[in-house]
Amino acid sequence: MTSSPPFSTVLLPDSETGITAAVEFLRSGSQVAFPTETVYGLGADARNGAAVAAIYAAKGRPSFNPLIVHVADLQAATHYADLDATAQKLGHAFWPGPLTLVLPLRRDHGLSSLVTAGLPSVALRVPAHPLAQRLLKAFDGPIAAPSANPSGKISPTRAAHVQAGLSGRIAAVIDGGTCRVGLESTIVSPTPPTILRPGGLAAEEISALLNQPLQAPDVSGITAPGQLASHYSPNAKVRLNVTSPRDDEFMIGFGDVPGDISLSPSGDLIEAASHLFDHLHTANAAERPIAIAPIPEAGLGRAINDRLRRAAAPRG
Ligand code: TXA
Ligand code: MG
Repeated sequence: MTSSPPFSTVLLPDSETGITAAVEFLRSGSQVAFPTETVYGLGADARNGAAVAAIYAAKGRPSFNPLIVHVADLQAATHYADLDATAQKLGHAFWPGPLTLVLPLRRDHGLSSLVTAGLPSVALRVPAHPLAQRLLKAFDGPIAAPSANPSGKISPTRAAHVQAGLSGRIAAVIDGGTCRVGLESTIVSPTPPTILRPGGLAAEEISALLNQPLQAPDVSGITAPGQLASHYSPNAKVRLNVTSPRDDEFMIGFGDVPGDISLSPSGDLIEAASHLFDHLHTANAAERPIAIAPIPEAGLGRAINDRLRRAAAPRG
């Protein structure tokens, strides 16, 4: 009930056949590792909450940090985010390449709320690796992808690294040789220009283009929004591990514990993860105190509980 059945992970070749098979896996909600010039990414359809939740499950990632969404070009980026003049200048200069821009979400973005961890912004990147480009064009949609390694382990720069870490947990790996950059992308918030994560594109190149110095990251935690003690806080008070709600509470159920809505009536943690942020939004809109059923502290349940503890934490 807590995990997907084991896969036999397919090694796909760098060919049209390989790309076609990868696109089929992505369309069916499966996870496919693919090369970018920085590191191999573990990709899934960024519009499909269950597919994105399964990325966290495969990596054993302890919390729902927001993920980078990969798109084919700057034009595709405009479907999901608003690019101001600085963002466009950076995109024109450095995309495709090892630059990720954190941008305000468009209203009609259509991305899973699990990709953005409920934030009003999204991290977008246009990878330069020819295979990543071919995959994005053939898939014709946004691909969410963290590095394709188990959480806490070294990032993969060859298909064999991905297989060693994730074999049996994902559908496929496309073999595109060794990653050119081998270091994750530089993450920039354009206005004012701030480096949130140093990476494959040097800060000097960015400040030279913009003709201004870059801000140091904000110590308030914007570099890792998922790690804030109180993050994604609904307006109402949140009570955890509730089996019988009070009369005034909006109840979010799970498994055998019913509610006004349920994260997963069947007790499936992947389904629960994919519903988490949406259900918190719904509960928030009810303008009542929120009660949430116990979630097992195992598999994706750890990440769900991590997010729920932050939602319930005293506000700064
Ligand atoms: O090179 C790379 O960037 C690789 C390849 C696969 O593209 N991807 C990668 O993704 O390193 P990941 O998920 O390991 O790193 C995502 C980083 C996290 O540190 C996260 O906090 C930050 O991006 N991030 C994502 N969305 C954000 C947002 N809306 N605001 C601030 N930071 C964000
Ligand atoms: Mg990583």
